[in-house]
Amino acid sequence: MKHYREILRRYKTSLFVSPFLVLVTVLCETVQPMFMAEIIDAGVMRRNLSVVSETGLHMALVSLAGLFFSVANIYVSSITSIGFGTGLRAALFHKIQQLSFAGVDRLGPASLVTRLTGDVARIQHLVLTSMRILLRAPFTLMMAVFFVVRINPDLAMALLASIPVLGAAIFVILRKGLPLFLKVQQQLDRLNGLVRENLINIRVVKSFVREDFETARFTRSSEALRDLVIRASDTVVTLFPVMQLVMNLSILAILWFGGYKVIGGELKVGELISFVNYLTQALMSLMMFSMISVAFARASASSRRITEALDAEPSLPGTSATLPDQRRIGRGDVTFRHVSFRYEGGEEDVLHDINFHVRQGETVAVAGATGSAKSSMLQLIPRLYDATAGEVLIDGVNVKAYPSDELRDKIGVALQKNELFAATIADNLRWGKPDATQKELEDAARAAEAHDFIMSFAAGYDTMLGRGGAGVSGGQKQRLCIARALLRKPKILILDDSASAVDTETERRIQANLRSCLTDTTVFIITQRIGTMESAGRIIVLEDGKIEAIGSPEELLLTSGVYREIYQSQQTAF
Ligand SMILES: Nc1ncnc2c1ncn2[C@@H]1O[C@H](COP(=O)(O)OP(=O)(O)OP(=O)(O)O)[C@@H](O)[C@H]1O
Ligand SMILES: [Mg+2]
Repeated sequence: MKHYREILRRYKTSLFVSPFLVLVTVLCETVQPMFMAEIIDAGVMRRNLSVVSETGLHMALVSLAGLFFSVANIYVSSITSIGFGTGLRAALFHKIQQLSFAGVDRLGPASLVTRLTGDVARIQHLVLTSMRILLRAPFTLMMAVFFVVRINPDLAMALLASIPVLGAAIFVILRKGLPLFLKVQQQLDRLNGLVRENLINIRVVKSFVREDFETARFTRSSEALRDLVIRASDTVVTLFPVMQLVMNLSILAILWFGGYKVIGGELKVGELISFVNYLTQALMSLMMFSMISVAFARASASSRRITEALDAEPSLPGTSATLPDQRRIGRGDVTFRHVSFRYEGGEEDVLHDINFHVRQGETVAVAGATGSAKSSMLQLIPRLYDATAGEVLIDGVNVKAYPSDELRDKIGVALQKNELFAATIADNLRWGKPDATQKELEDAARAAEAHDFIMSFAAGYDTMLGRGGAGVSGGQKQRLCIARALLRKPKILILDDSASAVDTETERRIQANLRSCLTDTTVFIITQRIGTMESAGRIIVLEDGKIEAIGSPEELLLTSGVYREIYQSQQTAF
């Protein structure tokens, strides 16, 4: 609620004005039957045409005024709800940008998409509905009761008796229907998730010829949704006939008793007609109430999901703002001291008691089988994740003591699953450094052996890439990611299997370039290739999240079983 209140505060005036508009609209509407009674009783029954036209004119004017205020309220509530939706989406998006990798893992990138779109839209709709009918229904009911009691208290009892009957019917039906609506919402989420997953992996689906399987899966989920919607609608659909029945019976009762009173001279015909009108208004307002309860039920699931995301911890607690001195990374020494790490929700540690020290300017290769936690280990340096135990130090200072932008600025990362954006090549590279000059771009691209292939495109650096960098090959994409990381001239460079799709010869050249232009930079290279390992000064060999060996290539041939195995397997391959 706190988040919503903050956003709604911007619309204080509208939120203040809207109830007033609703109130006036309701007054204009509920006074209509009184005019009608007057026209019939004083005009028609007494054959007085001037009363008919005069009252008729008043009635028309009031009706027009009602229309005006009603439209005004629709306008105000539309502006407010749309603004609220936009504000909420902005707040959510802003929050997502701040989430740590762990936070994104937990909430799920796909589900964050639905939260940003569908869920926000549902809350926005609720704001609109609330502003339009939340107050309108009770106001109308109150006014209708007020007028009927004024006309004839006895007869008013008939109306008052029908309200609880309908109220009870609505209550029973909603109590059965609302849980079903919640289920509909959940099933809809599942269906969305399924479609999203399918679209993200559409290439895999097609290459494994699994279209039929996927279609069947979709159909099953879609049919489950259909059945639920039908069940939910069934219960709510009964509401309308029940209401119709109660209404007709009440009208009958009122005409019956009222008829007696009219004949007895206690009640006028026009009053009786207005009575029937009020009855309809009162029962309609109850119906509006039930509609809004359904809207609330549907929105509550969405609201839970949005608040969960808004309440999530931002990425790096205890940085930037809370730090007294703006510490800077000077050299780029990296030390791990008894570091253990476990993913949030994970069952066991993926890193166990890691210790090493890497000096400024050193190039270190990280080797190990797939799943040995190479990526996990290096992601702790720029605090993409935080160590669960132990300390990660840069220049002898815990990484948590650096402002987050300093870490991002001085540490260049080309992640294993790095992606590019749908933008020009130049813009993609500038992601690393927005104010980079063309020369800087070209230097970085040359170092990453990307310049030549970029220039082979007709538009050169202005070549547009598709979503996720479509339009370049896997190896070219990797080289662009390396160039992007190099552009910052980082103190620490982390290349996570970043040249796996690049041929060995090109990779060798990239490494030579790195050595010549980044003499002061500490470089970590995760790699599977023995050639890359051999050209590094030292190698850290991981096995099941532990350091199996650490040392120069020559030393490892003697001390590391894992290294020897990699070495031998790749010797025989040639
Ligand atoms: N985001 C995550 N959430 C939970 N567990 C994860 C996550 N990423 C990796 N893991 C787990 O952590 C372990 C180490 O994974 P990691 O990606 O660090 O290995 P790796 O050595 O980089 O492997 P590869 O050579 O295949 O890239 C694996 O068991 C994996 O299942
Ligand atoms: Mg990895």
